[in-house]
Amino acid sequence: ATTSIDIYDEIEALKAEQDATILAHYYQDGEIQELADFTGDSLKLARVATTVDTGTIVFCGVHFMAETAKILNPGKRVLLPDPLAGCSLADSCPAPLLARRQEALRAAGRTFQTVTYINSTASVKALSDWIVTSGNAEEIIRRVPEDCEILFAPDRHLGSYLQEVTGRPMILWEGSCMVHEVFSVNDLLKLKRRKPEARTIAHPECPANIREHADFIGGTEAMIRFVDRFDAPTEFLVATEANMLWQLQHAVPRHAYLPVPGITCACNNCPHMARNTLEKLRDCLKNGSPEIAWRPDFDRAGEVLRRSLLG
Ligand code: 13P
Ligand code: SF4
Repeated sequence: ATTSIDIYDEIEALKAEQDATILAHYYQDGEIQELADFTGDSLKLARVATTVDTGTIVFCGVHFMAETAKILNPGKRVLLPDPLAGCSLADSCPAPLLARRQEALRAAGRTFQTVTYINSTASVKALSDWIVTSGNAEEIIRRVPEDCEILFAPDRHLGSYLQEVTGRPMILWEGSCMVHEVFSVNDLLKLKRRKPEARTIAHPECPANIREHADFIGGTEAMIRFVDRFDAPTEFLVATEANMLWQLQHAVPRHAYLPVPGITCACNNCPHMARNTLEKLRDCLKNGSPEIAWRPDFDRAGEVLRRSLLG
């Protein structure tokens, strides 16, 4: 316990010394979310990153998030506690394969725009017309001209959900989130039978067989807004990364939240998000590394990000 009190003090002192602001995604451990200056979903954190007044941003999240913060703020130093914190969605869509697919569609005479989930590398963003997050996807898709087809990458589940809600057919990339893909439908149905009054909320990265049993489908920020609409204490079954339950309990404490179990585990945690620890957060502040270095394709990725997220 003493060590952990020390580490909080150490991080506070280093933050001041290094002129740093700590951003944390809702899928980080509660102890990291607790000491962050800002917590949020992907969209909120990308926007907050453009308003911080310190020279350094420590991004407690996964690589594409820290990369996005750097792209939107070229003059800032952006640190990521563990540089290996990746994402199965970003990994599923290497830029050369996307470029080849686009080339094949063009060769076949198809007119399309590429709409890419923010969970992707900068090189993939640079090949895209639009970037969406769970928080702005419907709005962005309405900006794609009706006479254009949509190539949606890399999340096929989010893509199929967006097809349902916008009525726009899409050519879907075959990627998926390793966390949201493994919720157990059986366990969810058992829970719903045991708790008929409970409401189910699910992230749109979940497959259709989970989404069809949800009372509400939305990204993490939208989940907070949804549960806050219920004045009376209510039970919610939550189908998203398990650390989101910490944030829901913190933001709207009058309700009770239960995780929808995974196929092989009671709580679904993202192993990439879990790479960031308090110790690595302290060490990156101490060492000024790992830092996100500028790369040439950040310029084009920045144009696409800015008109999609900040425009
Ligand atoms: P949001 O918090 O933007 O809904 O994103 C979910 C996610 O999977 C991030 O990796
Ligand atoms: Fe990627 Fe899924 Fe982890 Fe989010 S929860 S970082 S989408 S693997």
